[in-house]
Amino acid sequence: MTKDSLQTTDADGGDLTPPGFSNPGMEPHRPRLSDTSPRGAKRAERQVVFIFTISILATIGGIVGYFAFPLDGVKLFNVRMSTLSIGAGLGIGMLGIGIGAIHWAKSLMDDREKSEPRHPMVSDKPTRAEALEMLREGISESKIARRPLLKGALGTAVAIAPLTFLVPLIGNLGGDWDVEKFKRTAWRPVENGNPEHYHEGKYRYITVDPSNRKLKASDITNGNIVHVLPAGLHDDPDFLTEKAKAAVILVRVDPEIITPLPGREDWTYEGIIAYSKICTHVGCPVALYERTTHHLLCPCHQSTFDVTDHAKVVFGPAKRALPQLPIAVDDEGYLYAMDDFDEAVGPSFWERER
Ligand code: FES
Repeated sequence: MTKDSLQTTDADGGDLTPPGFSNPGMEPHRPRLSDTSPRGAKRAERQVVFIFTISILATIGGIVGYFAFPLDGVKLFNVRMSTLSIGAGLGIGMLGIGIGAIHWAKSLMDDREKSEPRHPMVSDKPTRAEALEMLREGISESKIARRPLLKGALGTAVAIAPLTFLVPLIGNLGGDWDVEKFKRTAWRPVENGNPEHYHEGKYRYITVDPSNRKLKASDITNGNIVHVLPAGLHDDPDFLTEKAKAAVILVRVDPEIITPLPGREDWTYEGIIAYSKICTHVGCPVALYERTTHHLLCPCHQSTFDVTDHAKVVFGPAKRALPQLPIAVDDEGYLYAMDDFDEAVGPSFWERER
């Protein structure tokens, strides 16, 4: 292979091999359409601008979505749409910047390979001057100075992309949780409730989750755990939100081993006791029951609650007992809730009166 056959050349056929060095094996440069045709270069530039424009619109769309779907009411639809719009805005915004930059580099920036002989680690003055000159050349070859539209599109896309982080972050600063909504659950008594779902039109019957079947005390055997919901909750338009607050577990133990808190002596029925299923640590469902120790376990961080002793915490990071639901049975033996919880359900870091 001769030296001539390995020559690296510029677009005009000029030799780019540094003086005194042979070509180390680089392929001859193959000009792209954008190198030889001003129209091709213009078209590539328009494509890059188009991609950056998509990135800009996606970022703006994410911010608009954040304001269009406020989370004040904790509506599930709003939560989903807000998450979708912010996620899509952020993802497409960033992806657009990446794709646009790659397309720009591949189609418009100088793609000629260059070789550079090794130099001593400490460069002499002329070499540093040469490096500076090469840097200037690189900037000039990127043609950024002569493409203000492209420069502006990239600058705007990069500048506004962080807004999808910052706007939700700043928008969600401050403000307290509305603890009142965690104190009211679907177990609260009502006036003139549907007799199918409410005992005496007032007290909510207890149904098995997920079959929605009304539960009799005789259905629960000793040592059993049953996951329950308020009767008719499936018809609630805000079902998922209400379910997240009203999920309850029923456990039956020997009535003799229950140590009720003062004032809660009649909150159980023949050893059947009801507790909120929402862990008071950070809200995972407490779903594991140890029959021999009568302990309820939260699978997330192993908080453990004593069923026989008002579900007080016996192990783990939770800081307060599971709220207890007062229950009773009607003449036919169906279980119902005598009242709502008397404290907020869920994690204990929310502001509470007690
Ligand atoms: S959420 Fe239950 S222990 Fe952490």
